[in-house]
Amino acid sequence: MSGLISINPSLPTAERYLLLEEQVKALVYGEEDLIANLSNIMSALKYGMNYFWVGVYKVAGDQLILGPFQGPVACTRILKGRGVCGNCWERNQAIIVGDVDKFPGHIACSSDTKSEIVLPVRNKEGEVAFVLDIDSNSLNDFNTEDQKGLEKIVTIIESIL
Ligand code: SME
Repeated sequence: MSGLISINPSLPTAERYLLLEEQVKALVYGEEDLIANLSNIMSALKYGMNYFWVGVYKVAGDQLILGPFQGPVACTRILKGRGVCGNCWERNQAIIVGDVDKFPGHIACSSDTKSEIVLPVRNKEGEVAFVLDIDSNSLNDFNTEDQKGLEKIVTIIESIL
């Protein structure tokens, strides 16, 4: 399996996520290594959906540590409860931020980031093991339809942890 994933941007959002889900399932099929799988999933998300930045942070002690990602270089460590990612971890729930400047304590890894969606990735015990962070350079770029589509991707990630 190699090459660039591309999904027609003019398709309805729900359909794009459905195609993405199929491609992500195919990408991880037959491979057990988590880092390899997460790396390819981040590439599929970036090139399939044309996000500005997409990556995972791994829970490690009282911090999140940067994992496989696609996009500009990012902050490597985030404390629990800090920024959107740290809040997602603490609350164990997805967060959509339409304007990062209005989110108290937002961590600006890139000044180009304007909106974001962050979802918890849970282990078998239901604890947050990773957070999936997706950033846009446009305001209000994510809605509940994105959340629904991305929850399907998160389910795939949870199945390969
Ligand atoms: N914006 C995030 C930090 C991670 S970077 O954007 C990649 C936050 O506030 O949690």
